[in-house]
Amino acid sequence: MATLPEIPKEKMPRHIACIMDGNGRWAKKRLLPRKAGHRAGADTVERCVDYCMTHEIPWLTLYAFSSENWSRPKAEVEALMILLHDFLKKHSQKMKEKGIRLHAIGDLRRLPEKTRHLLEESIQETSSNTQLNLVLALSYGSRAEIVSAAQKIATRVATGELKAEEITEQTLSEHLYTANMPDPDLLIRTSGEMRISNFLLWQISYAEIYVTDVLWPDFSTENLHEAVSNYASRNRRFGGV
Ligand code: IPE
Ligand code: IPE
Ligand code: MG
Repeated sequence: MATLPEIPKEKMPRHIACIMDGNGRWAKKRLLPRKAGHRAGADTVERCVDYCMTHEIPWLTLYAFSSENWSRPKAEVEALMILLHDFLKKHSQKMKEKGIRLHAIGDLRRLPEKTRHLLEESIQETSSNTQLNLVLALSYGSRAEIVSAAQKIATRVATGELKAEEITEQTLSEHLYTANMPDPDLLIRTSGEMRISNFLLWQISYAEIYVTDVLWPDFSTENLHEAVSNYASRNRRFGGV
């Protein structure tokens, strides 16, 4: 592999979020079942994690399964859940050793029980790691997340613990699944679709968006580096001049 061009440290994103799209199309092109695409996509996850470790990017969030993805055919949903289970089985120990801290965001109650247990175990066992925070968005929907935050805040107002006029942007952030996580700096979507698909609506307010036609299973270390270097060349203004 050719050496990747250097990016100044201060220009690196602190948090990358990926909408991992295109597994189905990758499989279709090869006349394979869709689940073969999902399996190939798991290797891309490993590459992205390694890249973040090497380049000292402390946060990586991956959109692995949306609330809306539950509407896919039962066999595909099952295949995805098995893949998640296998991924956790295969990588839990390695995550522990390599300094990766695992987090999950989404309605985890909907996951199969044994997968949820495994997930909770890995989250617990890696909780003192600090090298890389790997956030898996599972059964995740941003609107549902915001509704759930609104409910929690409303309950606090109803009990008198909080006044309505005391609610700030910070209050809302603190009631999201992503409380205590930094907002993404760079949002990458593979396979060309120019949409957000209910991902981190609140958190990506000022994220830089990068869309590539490359399908997720084909997304290489060089492709990721290209996205990061494109990000590094941008002028983030946050509404200023
Ligand atoms: C992304 O790939 C993986 C999930 C949504 C779980 P897709 O399965 O959406 O692949 P395409 O979009 O059909 O190619
Ligand atoms: C978004 O991809 C969800 C994940 C990557 C997990 P989808 O393939 O589900 O999104 P749409 O249907 O193209 O909007
Ligand atoms: Mg898709």
